[in-house]
Amino acid sequence: MAILEDDAYYDLRYDGERLPAVSSLAENPWAIYTGSFSKVIAPGIRVGYLCGAPEVVQRLGCLKQITDLHTGSLTQRIAYEYCARGFLEPGIQRLRDVYRARRDVMMRNADPGDQRTLPFSASKQNRLPSAPKVNTFPPSTAGVTRGPDE
Ligand SMILES: Cc1ncc(COP(=O)(O)O)c(C=O)c1O
Repeated sequence: MAILEDDAYYDLRYDGERLPAVSSLAENPWAIYTGSFSKVIAPGIRVGYLCGAPEVVQRLGCLKQITDLHTGSLTQRIAYEYCARGFLEPGIQRLRDVYRARRDVMMRNADPGDQRTLPFSASKQNRLPSAPKVNTFPPSTAGVTRGPDE
């Protein structure tokens, strides 16, 4: 079975130990792991990467070429220099510290009556109880309306 793991936020784990990528847990020639520098260098830099079996990566490279030729050269160069000059790890650490502090402030000031818990909690009872209905705009002909229990 093919796995495409989109792990753009991997480095932004605020607490706890780093978990292994799902695609690394079992030998799978069709597993592809993807990440993005948009979350750790600058929003909108739009440079990402993928890891996978060489044959798969090569085919995906061809697909990329026929889709949009290639990612912008300037932003690729910026990402390269940022990493090569050793800014990546300290930058990630700084982001983690800042986001963790913001999360902690949010949690300290959250209404205790609210069922909000730590961000990234996915269980159903931890969803916001009073999430407003969200209507698409412009109104779609499908009439998509989503609420907390849908
Ligand atoms: C989960 C996830 N994966 C991938 C991306 C793609 O990032 P980019 O196209 O900016 O490299 C994003 C962007 O917001 C994202 O949220």
